[in-house]
Amino acid sequence: MYFQWYPGHMTKAKRMMQENIKLIDLLIELVDARVPISSRNPDLDELGKNKARLILLNKADLAEEKWNDAWMEYFQKQGCMVVKVNSKKGGGMKSIQGVIQEACKEKMERDRRRGILNRPVRAMVVGIPNVGKSTFINALAGKACTKTGNRPGVTKGKQWIRLNKNVELLDTPGILWPKFEDQSVGLRLAYIGSIKDEILNTEELAAELTGFLVQYYPGVLAEKYAMEESENGFENLRKIAESRHCLIRGNEPDLEKAAKLMLDDFRNGRLGRITLEFPQ
Ligand code: G4P
Repeated sequence: MYFQWYPGHMTKAKRMMQENIKLIDLLIELVDARVPISSRNPDLDELGKNKARLILLNKADLAEEKWNDAWMEYFQKQGCMVVKVNSKKGGGMKSIQGVIQEACKEKMERDRRRGILNRPVRAMVVGIPNVGKSTFINALAGKACTKTGNRPGVTKGKQWIRLNKNVELLDTPGILWPKFEDQSVGLRLAYIGSIKDEILNTEELAAELTGFLVQYYPGVLAEKYAMEESENGFENLRKIAESRHCLIRGNEPDLEKAAKLMLDDFRNGRLGRITLEFPQ
């Protein structure tokens, strides 16, 4: 399967991000805990140099806990601050404010030495589409926060949300697209639903995913669909179709319907917590 995916609004989003990045001190980068590397954008290192950085493993509820911990360790070893979160349920939010403060300690100290007092740290949430940016902002800012409104001058036209007396968050997230140089990256992003299904061959995609599951999570498909697992992805789809009575004329298995059903089950966590990429 070959992925080529350049949404038209990408250039505009990148320009906006470049403009906004000038206004902030801290980048809060959301990655998908199931694919923490594939869901990152390497341009961010260039865009965000000289900024404090915080990585959030979002949708941690959908990924396997032991791999969440392994990924935390992986990023920490690279000198990054990292937190596991479930933005949908609000899990991990309590610790975030403290971590944001911690991530900006150096910056605040520098300000203090220069005699700049009481200037709040400004942060922006960034990530690829669908990683959960809006959900996270709502979860974090939902309670106890006030919008500071437009400020003339420096932050013209921008809405800032005051998280506490020390931290403000830009209410529009920065959107970046993943890099598709490696086709396996495209495949993983397609599994999690970050690439529109209309431009993909759903059957091929689902068949590939069953192959991954049979190899790394043996027994998951067998249990969910009361079937025998095979190394052949299309054979698995056929069995899922039979098990779920997805049939077309002449009682033939409807592979497309089975593929959609299986992808939907996976994406919504109905196959259990599954991590798709593992730290080296
Ligand atoms: P974006 O701004 O980065 O584009 O992403 P957005 O917040 O719109 O979230 C994309 C989808 O991911 C939403 O699902 C959202 O509910 C879900 N999501 C966000 N964070 C988490 C999380 O930590 N765990 C889980 N399980 N899901 C999360 P949706 O299908 O578009 O909507 P709905 O199911 O909420 O109705």
